[in-house]
Amino acid sequence: MTHDMILVIDCGTMVSRFIARLLRGEGVYSEITKAEKTAQAISAKKPKGLIIIGDTAESLNYDDLPDDLPLLAVGKCSVDLCKALGGNVTGENEINSISSVIYSSSKLFDGLAQSNRKFQTLYSLNLPGGFSELAYVDNGSTPAFGSEIRRIYGLQFSIEQNDPEGLKILSNFAKKICRCTDDWSLEAFAEETIRSIQEQVGDGRALIALSGGVDTCVCAALMHKAIGDKLICVFVDSGLMREDEAELISRSFPIETGCSIEYIDAKTRFLDRLRGVKDANRKREVVRDEMLHTVAEATAAFGKVDCLAEGTIYPDILAGTFSDSDAAKDRNALMDHIDFEKLLEPIKMLFKGEVRRLGGILGLSADLTSRQPFPEAGLAVRCLGEVTEERIDILSRADAIFREEIKAAELETRIWQYFAILTDMKVAGIYNGDEAYGYALILRAVTSNDALSANAFRLPSDLLERVMERVTNEVSGITRVLYDVTKKPPALIEWE
Ligand code: XMP
Repeated sequence: MTHDMILVIDCGTMVSRFIARLLRGEGVYSEITKAEKTAQAISAKKPKGLIIIGDTAESLNYDDLPDDLPLLAVGKCSVDLCKALGGNVTGENEINSISSVIYSSSKLFDGLAQSNRKFQTLYSLNLPGGFSELAYVDNGSTPAFGSEIRRIYGLQFSIEQNDPEGLKILSNFAKKICRCTDDWSLEAFAEETIRSIQEQVGDGRALIALSGGVDTCVCAALMHKAIGDKLICVFVDSGLMREDEAELISRSFPIETGCSIEYIDAKTRFLDRLRGVKDANRKREVVRDEMLHTVAEATAAFGKVDCLAEGTIYPDILAGTFSDSDAAKDRNALMDHIDFEKLLEPIKMLFKGEVRRLGGILGLSADLTSRQPFPEAGLAVRCLGEVTEERIDILSRADAIFREEIKAAELETRIWQYFAILTDMKVAGIYNGDEAYGYALILRAVTSNDALSANAFRLPSDLLERVMERVTNEVSGITRVLYDVTKKPPALIEWE
């Protein structure tokens, strides 16, 4: 079944992802394209409407946009749209603040009368012929304009997180102007995808390698629902996961899904390969490479397997479209190593939150689906400098204590990520009255919406003290505990 869809044209802003997620939440399927690829995306996806979003729409070729498709430009790119249609800018007010906007009676603003909107700069516009002002602010500028006949609209204000009026505008555009049916849901997605997996696998067999993360777990649960025992599910325990996580997966996943797991204990292999490796990117390469080889070796034992399933998700696809990172390029590297006929990526159009919710729909517990983001190279990149068995043990125990205390304080759902980092810095301390040198451990807890920016979470000082007491008493080798208060940017969330 195909769904009506809105294509979001990304003119250089990650907000495109958030707009697409909001539309899907309203039942209207939405995908994102890079501005330069708009023409191909329109002809491949046949959207019922277009949303342009970003600071500048200069990379967009307006000749690519069909006349009969409704168009909404959000943010500063609406000014470029106005100019491209024959209008011009007559003035500019730097406001960078919230202003009260009165809406006119347009379909776009159905159900809205007034709201406070955030602007960076508010331009005074001389509108193109056939266009009119659709909203008003005190200083006489034009916060929104459009042509109901041509179904083209521009908003100079942004759409924010937790913004019911912004959501209403998006919903009006999709449902009342583009006339999209709101029939997209994760339940419908699951049903349709299960049918498609069954068709693609046919009488063959498929393999999935669980890396331990949420995405592969949910993908495996979906694959198993579709093809049952024709799925081979390999779980590689690299020894680099958080304390008890490998056990959680090998115990809970089969019970919750009915899918048995081929457990591979590769802890020694990974540690051997990491010996002496101190550079963070080299650690990432080594872990990725070892994972490939371990899965390839294991697969050889299963005889002919026709399909490979991967837990690729939409942000991975978008990373491939919008960046040249190694991880983005390395997607599907297993296909190059093993002779599979087909690659299945059944959740590749889902955002992370959708993947977690799909996991719940498929019967996975929150213990499996609500786990925090975790680097692919796991504890190896939270163990600064050399990775040894002893240092991983120290780190995973200290990290577990930190997580236990956050859980006891019922703060887990308020913090985006919280974890410990083991430095390779040995600092002076006292142990049983004698001078002792131990490692410094760093605690990090951040709030964020998308990991692009983050703030240190204001952890209660008594919680920090409890963690310090427990870590220094219960974990040998740590004589100092530090809390990282740096926001991103300038810092990253991870240390390596
Ligand atoms: P940074 O440290 O760049 O992290 O602020 C942003 C988000 O990405 C996660 N992260 C990784 N995830 N492989 C991954 O799969 C990696 O190498 C990696 N490095 C960082 C990080 O945990 C945060 O959620």
